[in-house]
Amino acid sequence: MDYFHYQDGQLFCEQIPVCNLAEKFGTPLWVYSKRTMLHHYEQLVRAFAELKPLICYSVKANSNLGVLRVMAEAGSGFDVVSGGELYRVIKGGGDPAKTVFAGVGKTDEEIRFALDCNVMLFDVESEAELERISVVASEMKKSAPVALRVNPDVDPKTHRYISTGKKESKFGLDLARASRIAREARNLPGVRMIGLHMHIGSQITQTESHSEAAQKGVQFVTELRENGHPIEWFNFGGGFGIHYRKQEAKSAEEFARVIVPEVRKTGCRLALEPGRFIVGNAGILVSRVLYTKVSGERRFLIQDAAMNDLLRPTLYEAFHRIWPVEPQGVLTPPEDFEASIPGTEAWDVVGPVCESGDFFAKDRNLPAMKRGDLLATFSAGAYGMVMSSNYNTRPRAAEVLVDGDSAKLVRRRETLEDLLAPEFISS
Ligand code: LLP
Repeated sequence: MDYFHYQDGQLFCEQIPVCNLAEKFGTPLWVYSKRTMLHHYEQLVRAFAELKPLICYSVKANSNLGVLRVMAEAGSGFDVVSGGELYRVIKGGGDPAKTVFAGVGKTDEEIRFALDCNVMLFDVESEAELERISVVASEMKKSAPVALRVNPDVDPKTHRYISTGKKESKFGLDLARASRIAREARNLPGVRMIGLHMHIGSQITQTESHSEAAQKGVQFVTELRENGHPIEWFNFGGGFGIHYRKQEAKSAEEFARVIVPEVRKTGCRLALEPGRFIVGNAGILVSRVLYTKVSGERRFLIQDAAMNDLLRPTLYEAFHRIWPVEPQGVLTPPEDFEASIPGTEAWDVVGPVCESGDFFAKDRNLPAMKRGDLLATFSAGAYGMVMSSNYNTRPRAAEVLVDGDSAKLVRRRETLEDLLAPEFISS
């Protein structure tokens, strides 16, 4: 469900024709729909209502200040994985007291910053980190609230690069190790263990893995309590998948159905860390066709957006729907992109970057295309701009936030001066 739709042969974001935005702000351009973000946030709040969940929007998915402001105003908490993300949350108007700090490699400086800000929880990923947090907090005469991140050894059945729930992954503590820490950690002076954390992976499109992880989590809460830790929080992480290709994702209710009954048994407050679920379908990347080209058997659509803007197709071979902003002939995108679509031709959609891996799609059916046409790459709101780079010295694209009939620039396009500003030629 999102608020991008085709009407009278053109794509709208909420009430605004996307071609007007491209005209005004140029391309490549990220376009975000505020209403779509809030819609997904509210779906989670409603589905998990019985446990009065704290939704901690996962900043890594899209950390634009305009997006963070929308989430903060909605009452959301935040999930951060660096001092930088925490800094953004504060600048965006978010509340550190509703912010959880995860990540396998927190530096002393980041720990100090988070303690200064009084974050709600540190998600602790190793024994060494727990000890370090205790030392830093003690030096500051503070006691750090921590949640132990356990790795339940559950297969989330997702892409191997975004799978974190198996015990071979670098994330969290396997259950045996976590048990030992539960027994031994009471004597650490600078930490209060008040939560359990899990995050088994991202873009998860079935509920069995969450169900299995929840059951293991409940047992572990009992164990932590038996060892004298007053566990108040069950932080279940994120990972709820979205529709990229067709209707492949599960609803918030379906996930709630397997998680709520388990967490209810513990009497804990529930925290969730959704990123993609909230912003994934709330963003598109708009690009312009520069050239068409035929080489051998292949037909290339060369656009002005590239792998430096959206890395997901290259890195994960991820599928993103792509369709013209003002299609000719076939006016709306098909339900099934893999079926043959009358009136379309197959294109490789590529960018100008000097890598064969620079593609958004291969053999993709699209209506007639020519130089100057605009393309929309859908479901690009999560892990799009945040993973972009300046590779090939390409300035990063602008970002626009649409709210009904208004569109606000929330990040200007980078200039070449911006790119070179931190560099020096030593004499
Ligand atoms: N919590 C933790 C501890 C995480 O590591 C992550 C994502 C999340 C929450 C949010 O997960 P989500 O609800 O968005 O699935 N770049 C990849 C995704 C990497 C996810 C990393 N961790 C992609 O483009 O698919």
